[in-house]
Amino acid sequence: MVDEDCTVRNTIPRKIYRRLRNLPSELALWVINLPAIEARLRTSYKQARIGHLARLPKLSDQDAEIVEGLNRDGVYVTTLASLGLPLNSEMFASARLIAKTYEQRVRQNAYHGWETIMATPDEITSNPSIFLWGLNQRLLNIVEAYLGLPVAYDGLNLFYTVADGRQIGTRKWHRDREDRRMIKIAVYCNDVDEGGGPLEVVRPNVITGDLADKFTYPILSQESLEARLGGPVTDRDIVTCTGPAGTVIFSDTASLYHRGKPAISRDRCAIYYNYFSRRPRHPFFCERSGLSRAQIAELSHALAPEQRSCVSWRDNLPRVARLIPRNVA
Ligand SMILES: [Fe+2]
Repeated sequence: MVDEDCTVRNTIPRKIYRRLRNLPSELALWVINLPAIEARLRTSYKQARIGHLARLPKLSDQDAEIVEGLNRDGVYVTTLASLGLPLNSEMFASARLIAKTYEQRVRQNAYHGWETIMATPDEITSNPSIFLWGLNQRLLNIVEAYLGLPVAYDGLNLFYTVADGRQIGTRKWHRDREDRRMIKIAVYCNDVDEGGGPLEVVRPNVITGDLADKFTYPILSQESLEARLGGPVTDRDIVTCTGPAGTVIFSDTASLYHRGKPAISRDRCAIYYNYFSRRPRHPFFCERSGLSRAQIAELSHALAPEQRSCVSWRDNLPRVARLIPRNVA
C-alpha cells in the first residue's frame, strides 16, 4: 500500500488514476484466480517446492529456530544484537538519521493529512547499507528455508508513522498480495510499545476459509475482524510485536492477516524488508519499495552472483508476466 511518490496523499484524481492504471493487474489477478488456472499454478508451485527440497540451505541452530517459529506462529521476534549481522550498525545508524529528519518535518506540519510517509529513493540510495543489509546471506537462507523456493529480494520500505490514531491503509487488517507466501523482516528504529504502532499479526488458523486461503484479499477494519471472531481480539488471536529500538520481526504477511496498530502515543519509524519466491504468483503486485530498477541495479553492482540473482528476480518471469504494468497503491 505504497507508491512511487513515496509520500502519499489520497486525493480524488489520484484515486481515479490508480483505478485506471491498476486495471490490467486486477484483471490478471482475476484470470489466474479462475479455478482451472489456479489448479495448474498450484500443481507447478508444489512441484517446484519438491524439486527444490534437496537444494535448501543448511541453517545454524539459531536460524533454524527462526524458521520453526515462522512455521508454528507465522511470526518470530528477535533483535539486531542477537542476529549480529555485519551491516547492523551502519544500517541502523543511517535509518535513525533519516527518521530524525522526518520527525522534524512532521513537527513542522509538512505532512498534515498524508496517509503514508516513506523515505524517498534518494534517501535510500544515499545510504546503501540500508538496502544491502537485507541481502545478508543468512537472512536470504532463512527466507529460502521458510519458502522452500529460491528467494527474491524486493528491497525495503522505511515508513514513518505519525501517532494520529487513524485506522487507514496498512493500519487495517490485510494480507500482502505479492505471492502465496512471503516474508517481511521489520526493524524498529525506535522503541515501540502498545501505543506506538506495533506490528500485529493474526495467529495461524484464527482466520480460516476463503479469507485465509483465496487470493481475493478483503481488507478488514478492527470492528469487522472482531465481528468475525465473535468478540474482542485477545492475545490468543494475535501476536502484538512490541519491542525496543533494534527489534527485528520476521513474519509471513502474505499468509496471515496483519496490520500496523494505529499509533496513539508516539510516532514510529520502522523498515520493512520484502522477500518472496523468485517466481511470485503476482509479480504485478511486487516492486513496492519506490526504488527504480536502475537504482536497484546501481545498488547491486558489486554483489556476489547469488545475491544478484535475488535482486534480479524479474529475469525469471515468463514474458507475459513482465508485460503487465506494476500495480500502484
Ligand atoms: Fe502488509
